[in-house]
Amino acid sequence: MKLTPPTELSEKFVAAQREQFKAVAEHPFFTRFATEATPAQIRKALLGFYPLIDSFPRWMATVRDRIDAKERPRADEARDWYRRNIKVERRHRSWWLDCGVPWGLTRRDYASFRPPAAMEEQCDFLRRIVREGTVAEAAAALNYAVEGATGEWTRRMRDASRARYATLGIDFNDKALRWVDAHAAYDDRHPAEALEVVKVFATDDASIARAAAAAVRSLEHYATALDDALRA
Ligand SMILES: [Fe+2]
Repeated sequence: MKLTPPTELSEKFVAAQREQFKAVAEHPFFTRFATEATPAQIRKALLGFYPLIDSFPRWMATVRDRIDAKERPRADEARDWYRRNIKVERRHRSWWLDCGVPWGLTRRDYASFRPPAAMEEQCDFLRRIVREGTVAEAAAALNYAVEGATGEWTRRMRDASRARYATLGIDFNDKALRWVDAHAAYDDRHPAEALEVVKVFATDDASIARAAAAAVRSLEHYATALDDALRA
């Protein structure tokens, strides 16, 4: 997506979900990771968030399919943005599985893990919003909120995870942290691009307020799922 200057509406959107965004980006799971993370918490987070990682490309495809490229200016650009990013997210799914290798996690472990209610609720919300929400709500909840907050915390976790793994005596290599490194690097741009999608599809106060509410709820579910991961 070509980035355009902020508008009054886009600034309202960003302000409305800033607090919840920060609560995820600076969640204790990440800020205390370098000194306090336990193997049980790390395993639970890797297993518990996998359904979200696994579904992410499919949910993006659902949004893409709902965009009529001729419906409004730049709708074609948004559709193309989804098309390209779906491929990227499919690759990330396999990198997530690599993250579990130092912890002895296999595909079987992921398949048989039953996520706790908090993590399931996060997925249920996203699954529903991409199908039933407006395109602006879906982009806000899925791409701006989830990818944006993830882009922030992964920056912290590049060093934190290496430090913690070393302290815990875990045998790991860069491949096991490629998912973290990749998101820390590129997601800079993703939230800004997702915000462009929101701007394209939410063009009045009512629709921008709905999109912001969707981002808020998405981030609240995200924070609750992280709270739960700490209770391992
Ligand atoms: Fe990703």
